[in-house]
Amino acid sequence: MSKRLIIAIDGPSGAGKGTIARTLAGTLGYRHVDTGAMYRAIAWKTIEDGVPLDDESAVAELARRADVRIGGGIVSIDGCDVTRAIRTPEMDAAAASVARLPRVREVLVALQRRMGRNGGVVMEGRDIGTVVFPGADVKIFLDASPEERARRRASDPAHSGNRVGQAAVARAIEARDRLDTTRTVSPLVIAADAVLIDTTGIPIDRVVDKVMTLVRERIEAYRSL
Ligand code: DC
Repeated sequence: MSKRLIIAIDGPSGAGKGTIARTLAGTLGYRHVDTGAMYRAIAWKTIEDGVPLDDESAVAELARRADVRIGGGIVSIDGCDVTRAIRTPEMDAAAASVARLPRVREVLVALQRRMGRNGGVVMEGRDIGTVVFPGADVKIFLDASPEERARRRASDPAHSGNRVGQAAVARAIEARDRLDTTRTVSPLVIAADAVLIDTTGIPIDRVVDKVMTLVRERIEAYRSL
């Protein structure tokens, strides 16, 4: 049996991470872990419990106690299915807020490491190749032009973007990019050894092919060791 890899997929929102990671995991028979959904679930619970989004110790404590599960396309926290509830503009902003808190990141990074340590995982997020698994077997950084990312988000039925229109989505994405790239802990940066793929105007299946080629090369390289 070939080695089961840790594959890190990072990049800004709307770059195509979700579709690529899901397809890749399906093809390889690996687990798909959407770490953004974990930050969203914590944000949802924070609001649900009436905890202020900037109360770092309270949010970190909530994250430590929470039972966050992701799998089979379902996201749940403490037994509550929040798959749909976490995909709203309010949760976009709330997740970006809690993701800025170092102690909350500490808790989720530890959980993500436990989820992926045995390999056979495609983990997507912002800091997977830089912080969570700096030794990941394959690191991909997906990007796309702001216009393309806004267009994708606006037409994504999982997001309520189509109701608010593309211009509003573009503004929200820009604001969130700013939060994600300027935070002091684990800002969105490209790992030195990541392969950068600009997905602007490229059909998703071509991007998947490209990433699959990199994965196969890596599996072959391990086989010949
Ligand atoms: O990918 P997403 O839009 O669902 O992520 C939600 C928020 O969480 C977004 O503001 C970025 C942040 N995030 C993060 O800081 N680190 C990750 N590994 C994943 C997401």
